[in-house]
Amino acid sequence: MTKGEGFRPADDKPRFFGRRRGKSLRRTAQGLMETLLPRLAITAPGQGEPSLDPKTLFPRPVNQVWLEVGFGGGEHVAAQARLYPDIGIIGSEPFNNGIASLLGHLSGSDIDNVRIYPDDVRQLLPGLPEACIGRVFVLFPDPWPKKRHAERRFIGRDNLDALARVMADGAELRVASDDPVYQEWATEQLRAHADFTEAQVTSDRPTLPEDWPATRYELKCLAGRDPVFFRFIRKNRS
Ligand SMILES: C[S@@+](CC[C@H](N)C(=O)[O-])C[C@H]1O[C@@H](n2cnc3c(N)ncnc32)[C@H](O)[C@@H]1O
Repeated sequence: MTKGEGFRPADDKPRFFGRRRGKSLRRTAQGLMETLLPRLAITAPGQGEPSLDPKTLFPRPVNQVWLEVGFGGGEHVAAQARLYPDIGIIGSEPFNNGIASLLGHLSGSDIDNVRIYPDDVRQLLPGLPEACIGRVFVLFPDPWPKKRHAERRFIGRDNLDALARVMADGAELRVASDDPVYQEWATEQLRAHADFTEAQVTSDRPTLPEDWPATRYELKCLAGRDPVFFRFIRKNRS
């Protein structure tokens, strides 16, 4: 990454500005963190280690692997996993309480096509091979509306470069935001990126594909803050 606000010279790990922990977990959630998470968590390869073939992470063959960045409560990951049992879904989220919530959706269900990267996705992306991801979701990313925090916004040149590298030709990137500053910013960033082509930018929810369930954040959107939904397609490499 460039030497912007998120660069840390000591270990070159991007700096994460969000929350990692919220209120103490209830006993059941804590139990899932201790028992289920170790079975579903994936680790990012270190520098110099071979890249991680995401299709090998699942207990049975999957047709494609999709990635959700910042899954929050995990309801959208669980819904996609149910809708598409032959797709492997990696959800990435550093917030402990969000991870516990996703585990709650998975435990006791028959969903076996989800894996969790319980950290900042920017540490995982460099460890994935090129063109291995068939769809990416970035739903209601933290808006960081102040101009001086613009470098913290997830949709930006560096992260779009990293996503474009791992996305297969024709793969779809779905983004949503209810923040007017972020909506304008994301529109500019996505339209300016040479590897993506616009499929749809709309606030007309009924025109979205049926397989786009609302996230918890979307359902909590304040009146008067209409979300904008973005669909961009990874261009062909050749
Ligand atoms: C506003 S919440 C939205 C959660 C969920 N997508 C929804 O729509 O309900 C944004 C989430 O993105 C997560 N997040 C922020 N930066 C991230 C990153 N670099 N990698 C993975 N998750 C990230 C935050 O921890 C937070 O849970």
